[in-house]
Amino acid sequence: MLMKCNSVPLDVSSHDIFPRLQPHFHSWIKLYGSTFLYWMSTKPQLVVADVELIKEIFTNKQGTFGKAKFEGILKKFVGDGSVFQQGHKWLKLRKVADHVFHAQSLKEMFPAMVEKVEAMLKTWKSYEGKEIEVYEEFKHLSLEIISNSVFGSDHTTGKHIFDMLDKIAYISFLSYGKIRNPIIDKIFRSSEEIEADKILDELFESFIRIIKQREEKVKTGQSDNYGADFLGSLLEGHLNADENARISIHEIIEECKTFYFAGHKTVTSLLSWSLYLLAIHTDWQEKARNEVAEFLGQENPTTENISKLKAVGMIINETLRLYPPFPVLQREVTRKTRLGKLNIPAGTEVIIATLAVHHNSEVWGEDAHLFKPERFAEGVSKATRDSMMSFLSFGYGLRKCVGFNFAYMEVKIALAMILQRYRLTVSPNYTHSPVAIFVLRPGNGVQIMLHPL
Ligand code: HEM
Repeated sequence: MLMKCNSVPLDVSSHDIFPRLQPHFHSWIKLYGSTFLYWMSTKPQLVVADVELIKEIFTNKQGTFGKAKFEGILKKFVGDGSVFQQGHKWLKLRKVADHVFHAQSLKEMFPAMVEKVEAMLKTWKSYEGKEIEVYEEFKHLSLEIISNSVFGSDHTTGKHIFDMLDKIAYISFLSYGKIRNPIIDKIFRSSEEIEADKILDELFESFIRIIKQREEKVKTGQSDNYGADFLGSLLEGHLNADENARISIHEIIEECKTFYFAGHKTVTSLLSWSLYLLAIHTDWQEKARNEVAEFLGQENPTTENISKLKAVGMIINETLRLYPPFPVLQREVTRKTRLGKLNIPAGTEVIIATLAVHHNSEVWGEDAHLFKPERFAEGVSKATRDSMMSFLSFGYGLRKCVGFNFAYMEVKIALAMILQRYRLTVSPNYTHSPVAIFVLRPGNGVQIMLHPL
């Protein structure tokens, strides 16, 4: 079903992507309703697209719906960081992340984000009046920005580390979907696995080098702390006298991998889809540009004026609804439980069907497949009857995305600065082929025509 759907591009202005990206879920929901079970090789997977049941899962406080674990190269790539942890280990890592990505720290990161967008836009001058492929542009931009906030002053080494992670991402992509035999896999390692392990050894060495350099600076009095960036805060945790709260080097490395994955591919996807949608829906492009002109003029964004961009915020929310970077969220049932009327055995994987909910006309209305940012005019909480559970782009509850304010800020800055300079239309070379490999992204990039204002 997937191969058939993916073989033809969609109409360039169609946002009806659910039947294309998840044709099996689309037809099974029609046949069996919004909750059904199927087998993924030897694993039972319960798909849940019912908002009431999703609420039960997210608000469960007993840890019954734990984080699903990845295996093989995928685990090596996405890491073993806080996203996949539970209990005490999760809490100590989450505390560090909450501290680094809270409102005050974000204000400090703001000028660096503006600077990186400005640098990108300088290179766009050579594309004026021509076509530019923005997915690759945004990949570099978001890598620069997340690398800067995680590694701060060690930004160049950080970038090298993220380049290595990019290689592992590619290797994981190559091995993704291959049927594995657990017995044979234990005896023979695949060439991808050998390559991934080589890169991981190199990564480990790079991290140890940075950590040693920072420790040395503190020891010799050149610095009185380990750095105000995310790595610095993790290092503080590594040297914590309380053994229970201490963060190991392995955990630091896994957490940096997590942030690379979580904070880079997601934002690239959101930025790319936002620009595509603005280029298609020129009425909203004009609205957003007028708003930017009113509050920013030709000035660079500041933390004060960016918060006034209401229409830009609505456009971002509508982009996240139609093209959520994570089309599903996964959980694993840790002990026998009840969900609605169902008895569920331990070990069942639960798939929260974000894309299905976001495109459900019973939840969002008959116009669910249309781009209508006005639905967010009163904010997310008033967009539908039960928006907090129907708008799942950043998850919900205790495990809600730690970087969601960071992501909004980065995307708002980039869109505002682009709108100040360019009118955008879609290039005739663009083919609308969304794909979901880890993250929902454009299959052949997003080709945009840049018209200087
Ligand atoms: C458009 C951008 C982003 C989207 C759509 C997104 C989406 C999500 C979602 C859906 C979750 C919850 C996963 C679950 O419940 O299983 C999550 C968790 C997480 N995100 Fe994001 N994210 C984005 C950007 C970021 C950024 C920029 C960072 C880092 C700066 C980040 C770091 C994290 C972390 C660490 C978690 C795990 C939280 C926990 O389990 O405690 N994300 N994200």
